Amino acid sequence: MTHTIAYRAAILDSLGDPAELGLENSYRYFEDGMMVVENGRISALGHAPEIMKGLKSGTKIHHYEDALITPGFIDTHIHYPQTGMIASYGDQLLDWLENYTFPAEQKFADPAHAEQVSEIFLNELMRNGTTTALVFGTVHPQSVDAFFSSAEKRNLRMIAGKVLMDRNAPATLTDTPESGYRDSKALIERWHGKGRLHYAVTPRFAPTSSPEQLATAGQLLREYDGLYMHTHLSENRNEIEWVKALFPEQNGYLDVYDHHNLLGQRSVFAHGVHLCDEECHRLAETDSAIAFCPTSNLFLGSGLFNLPQAEQHKIKVGLGTDVGAGTSFSMLQTINEAYKVMQLQGKKLHPFKSFYLATLGGARALQLEQQVGTLEPGSEADFVVLDYNATPLMSYRMQQAKSLEERLFVLMTLGDDRAVKATFAMGETVYNRD
Ligand code: GUN
Ligand code: ZN
Repeated sequence: MTHTIAYRAAILDSLGDPAELGLENSYRYFEDGMMVVENGRISALGHAPEIMKGLKSGTKIHHYEDALITPGFIDTHIHYPQTGMIASYGDQLLDWLENYTFPAEQKFADPAHAEQVSEIFLNELMRNGTTTALVFGTVHPQSVDAFFSSAEKRNLRMIAGKVLMDRNAPATLTDTPESGYRDSKALIERWHGKGRLHYAVTPRFAPTSSPEQLATAGQLLREYDGLYMHTHLSENRNEIEWVKALFPEQNGYLDVYDHHNLLGQRSVFAHGVHLCDEECHRLAETDSAIAFCPTSNLFLGSGLFNLPQAEQHKIKVGLGTDVGAGTSFSMLQTINEAYKVMQLQGKKLHPFKSFYLATLGGARALQLEQQVGTLEPGSEADFVVLDYNATPLMSYRMQQAKSLEERLFVLMTLGDDRAVKATFAMGETVYNRD
């Protein structure tokens, strides 16, 4: 039996990157819109009066007043094991890892702990309207089993992997090239392509993997189709100097990964704050993606991501919260901080570009734009209902807003989890605020 529901509200999705299409051609908007969901997929989208003519009699219609339906948000870089240490005081990257991150990650040797944090983490993503994420586990394979089990129960499109880390970390948190390879392989066999789940080969970053281990990561990518590669790149100046000292034969940070065949269309590099033109050229040439993580880059004092440079090179870019170095699970708050990162460089970030980055841009960075990231009929029905009146201040400010772009900008600047009224995955409610 087919299961059909229609949703009526203002509806917005992205058609492409404003940097390529121009602002006016980059989005699709229906002030009184209707989206029809059939068996978990979007089957129609348009102006409500027109779509309604085609509805079978008896089709249930959910009408949201003064709300905006958009695709679910896509977080292209986040660490679920760092949920409990978000907002840790005082350090920049390398000390922060040693003082806060590694102690927190050691607890994931315990599967019960991993299970509990997976649930808290996914509740938080759903409360914030994020329906797809590229997620770091810890070095422990059980951390990834726990995460994928929770995601599978909710039927979410999620990508995750076990950290590969065989040096420059506490002994309790290191694997070896052999055990990392073997454990990754077992997880790939168990989870990759199961339902909506995908596996990412996840070397933490160049300093914590030996050349032998990076070679095994490249080997895994060759052995299986459709795997992702997820790591960190050029986040912090001391980190970059350390990589140069550890890999003197390589021509800089990106080249360490390149040398081990880790670049490609499913490779996602978090940060890329301090890249030269040559590195940008190589990222674009290999169709690799960058996860821009503004709250993290500000919180750890890492630097300002140069989005115009990435645009000039036509590098795929998505937004990442990078929790626990990032300070919010909210993609709206991530956009708010991205805007300020641009302002500090004398640049603007238009609300349509921000919206693109949080939805279709993220989907493209993850090669998932045929499945999620837009409301195109045929897509999986992962979407959010956003509330323009989430707080008294937002409500009052919205009264002065004259255009869609102004309303969108206010929503992104003042909005957070409170502005998410409901979240849907494959047409099912996975979060309902009210
Ligand atoms: N570089 C290596 N590991 C990490 C991490 O856990 N967080 C961030 N922000 N950068 C890293
Ligand atoms: Zn990170």
